Amino acid sequence: MKIFVINGPNLNMLGIREPEIYDKGTYAELVSLIEEEAEKLQVELELFQSNHEGELVDIIQSAYSRADGIVINPAAYTHTSVALLDALKAVGLPTVEVHISNPDEREDFRKVSYIRGACAKTISGHGFVGYQEAMRWLCGKL
Ligand code: DQA
Repeated sequence: MKIFVINGPNLNMLGIREPEIYDKGTYAELVSLIEEEAEKLQVELELFQSNHEGELVDIIQSAYSRADGIVINPAAYTHTSVALLDALKAVGLPTVEVHISNPDEREDFRKVSYIRGACAKTISGHGFVGYQEAMRWLCGKL
């Protein structure tokens, strides 16, 4: 069983960017946490981060016939990207949307998620732990 964990723009800046919202954990620490969880779950993992919408589309498309499920935090593209929604619908894999913060409790423009329609579940506001929860949930469903 293989899962893709995909992170969108500015998540590589974790630890530096707005620690009052995203806490002080770095992207490297998030990567370690995700890798450890994959090991615990005995699931194969491919982990990605990109600041580019088209590259994220390519990554989602590449999951087709290579992955069994997707965990994705599209970051700002959550609130703007029909292309990511269409890519997720195209591959048709079980997908969990993750957000470190809770966008529903922030600015109005963050309350819209274009990708939610292609996701089986959303986990928001649980910090880095949300990724572990998403991976566990996905493994229970696969
Ligand atoms: C985020 C929330 C988004 O609104 C924001 O643009 C991000 C991160 C989160 O993980 O809380 O970059 O997806």
